[in-house]
Amino acid sequence: MNVDKPEVPVLRTRVEMTQLVLPEHTNAMGTIFGGQVAAWIDICAAISAQRFCRRQCVTIAIDSLEFLHPIQRGHIAIFQACVNAAWGKSMEIGVRVEGEDPMTGDRTHTASAYCTFVALDANGRPTIVPKLLCGTEDELRRRAEAEIRRGDRLRRANRAP
Ligand SMILES: CC(C)(COP(=O)(O)OP(=O)(O)OC[C@H]1O[C@@H](n2cnc3c(N)ncnc32)[C@H](O)[C@@H]1OP(=O)(O)O)[C@@H](O)C(=O)NCCC(=O)NCCS
Repeated sequence: MNVDKPEVPVLRTRVEMTQLVLPEHTNAMGTIFGGQVAAWIDICAAISAQRFCRRQCVTIAIDSLEFLHPIQRGHIAIFQACVNAAWGKSMEIGVRVEGEDPMTGDRTHTASAYCTFVALDANGRPTIVPKLLCGTEDELRRRAEAEIRRGDRLRRANRAP
């Protein structure tokens, strides 16, 4: 047990990022590029990781990304992130992406992603992350689900969980 670890509640790791989908973000059909969504997911998750650790953090893995619904040019893309779970030197950040029609306010679930980040010290080496404080039912559920995904991830990377 590491008694010296600072404790950070999930609430402090929350990020909401909003982007207007412009022509340069879209394909020939006028809907958003998957790669653009992935880049914004990575940025949103990085901000959440840094709010949690107050350190530089790098992406080490993004779990499979499936696009459920497109977002149209001129619509709004909303990214919501928080840290789901934290271990030794890494943490999982969950990102939910929604598209919003600016005329009606209707929102559609576009994608969800789970990103693993590693915290780095001043020398660029992996370093210990704070303890994540989960209080609500949702936070506890997300942490439990993140533990299962971590096991799968480390097995895929040939690292013992
Ligand atoms: C991040 C990096 C410094 C980690 O190096 P490393 O030698 O694997 O470091 P460690 O063995 O100390 O592991 C660090 C943490 O990463 C976790 N980790 C390593 N590989 C992982 C993987 N494939 N999936 C999930 N977690 C992984 C380890 O479990 C450990 O976390 P833990 O202490 O919470 O268990 C190195 O992999 C790297 O520089 N990767 C490139 C990162 C990058 O440039 N990202 C930008 C996008 S390309």
